[in-house]
Amino acid sequence: MDNRIDLPPEELRRLGCAAVELMARYLENLPRSRIMPDSTAARIRAAVEEPLPESGADPAALLETVENVILPLSRQNGHPRFFGYVASPGTAITAIGDLLASTLNANVTSWRSAPAATELEHVAVNWVKEILGCGPEWVGLFVSGGSMANFAGLAAMRNAKAAGDVNRSGLRSGPALRIYISEEGHYSIRKAAGLLGIGRENVQFVQTDARFRMDLAHLRERVEQDRREGHSPACVVVNAGAVGTGAFDPLPEIAGFARERNLWVHVDGAYGGFAALAPSARRFFRGIAEADSVALDPHKWLYTSMGCGCVLYRDPAAARATFAHQADYTRVVGWERDEAFAFWDFGPELSRRFRALSVWLQLKHHGTKALGEAIEHNMACARYLRKLVEASADFEMMAPVELSIFCFRYAPAGFTGDLDALNERILFELQRDGSSYLSNARLRGRFALRGCVLNYRTTERDMEILLDDVRRAARTVMEDGR
Ligand SMILES: Cc1ncc(COP(=O)(O)O)c(C=O)c1O
Repeated sequence: MDNRIDLPPEELRRLGCAAVELMARYLENLPRSRIMPDSTAARIRAAVEEPLPESGADPAALLETVENVILPLSRQNGHPRFFGYVASPGTAITAIGDLLASTLNANVTSWRSAPAATELEHVAVNWVKEILGCGPEWVGLFVSGGSMANFAGLAAMRNAKAAGDVNRSGLRSGPALRIYISEEGHYSIRKAAGLLGIGRENVQFVQTDARFRMDLAHLRERVEQDRREGHSPACVVVNAGAVGTGAFDPLPEIAGFARERNLWVHVDGAYGGFAALAPSARRFFRGIAEADSVALDPHKWLYTSMGCGCVLYRDPAAARATFAHQADYTRVVGWERDEAFAFWDFGPELSRRFRALSVWLQLKHHGTKALGEAIEHNMACARYLRKLVEASADFEMMAPVELSIFCFRYAPAGFTGDLDALNERILFELQRDGSSYLSNARLRGRFALRGCVLNYRTTERDMEILLDDVRRAARTVMEDGR
């Protein structure tokens, strides 16, 4: 039978060139495009829904559909005024990395399956450790994202802290393992606690101080109370950049307390971890080497393309005891120590894509200096927005700017109505309008417009345009309401 799947080299060259042309056009036009498509689920579905194709189509026509239908009907996360959630724009070099990783299509389970990819992952993970200030004894690997990195870190914690052999026998009845996190913690921690059989209810919230950082006195109280009540305090999760406000919990003090009480310290640095590259943020990371596990997201503030998180463990034996599993088909036979290395001993996945290529390309191509400067500039843009807000008569800040997240609201003098409801409607109108995009946070019960600068394309001018856009949205909402 004919092999009709392989593209002949000449056709591949033509297709590849056309795809890269498309990439360049897309990125060139990005700053001028609408952020959110003016469409509906039904209209988008109608544009792409069709019967299961039995015969193939010309790839050039498919690229046309990507360019004319799929890209414009997408939310443009790489736009300089996309401030929603914690979204990286990616970079051209990591997009190319994805293409090349998919070309090799290595399955990075172990050295035996992917020798160069495994060594490259060791190199890239060692660089990440160095960026953070974790010692050479730490181990780590790339996972799909921050939620999975939090899950893996907490799985290692559970294995270390639960009574008996939890992998073998499951959680025994007895004192509940307790995890402590500030009220600003990310929901992936509770989700992981549920999945790990610890229970979402056993994630205990600790109050925050005026800067939305974990209040150490309240942490102590909670731990003491739990001990008195017969629970088993096991872990404290430190926000290294909380998702709502960017607050950075006091790491050295928490680590000191945790050491006294024999608690596992897990640092959630999914958003803020790579701020360690920016000289002005280095001070936040004091004490990181005393943590037991750290979750990071290269696909956030290292600006790589989507699908790359990273988990680091201080004690390789604790990680191995959690994840190693001997099946006949995973047995590594006859290799020396380094060549017998397997990622499945340190994380939940078996098949893994070649994530390290993009991280390696990003760090090699741009270098830590340029990346650190870009992160520094993101933080400067957030502080500039705060300055503009504080100098205005119609906006107010809702939280301090710690890293690059800013929370504020529209609060014109003389307005006596419901500011929460007003700002919620402004947010909807702003997102619909398409020039700037914010998301929201609830801070001490109040609705806040929330933005996160995570894009090396964003400038101070974008922060000025953002406030003009919010004012325009407010006018529309208030005129509609009359
Ligand atoms: C602090 C924090 N932790 C965890 C996550 C989850 O990361 P991911 O979306 O990569 O799963 C996020 C996502 O924004 C986050 O900001």
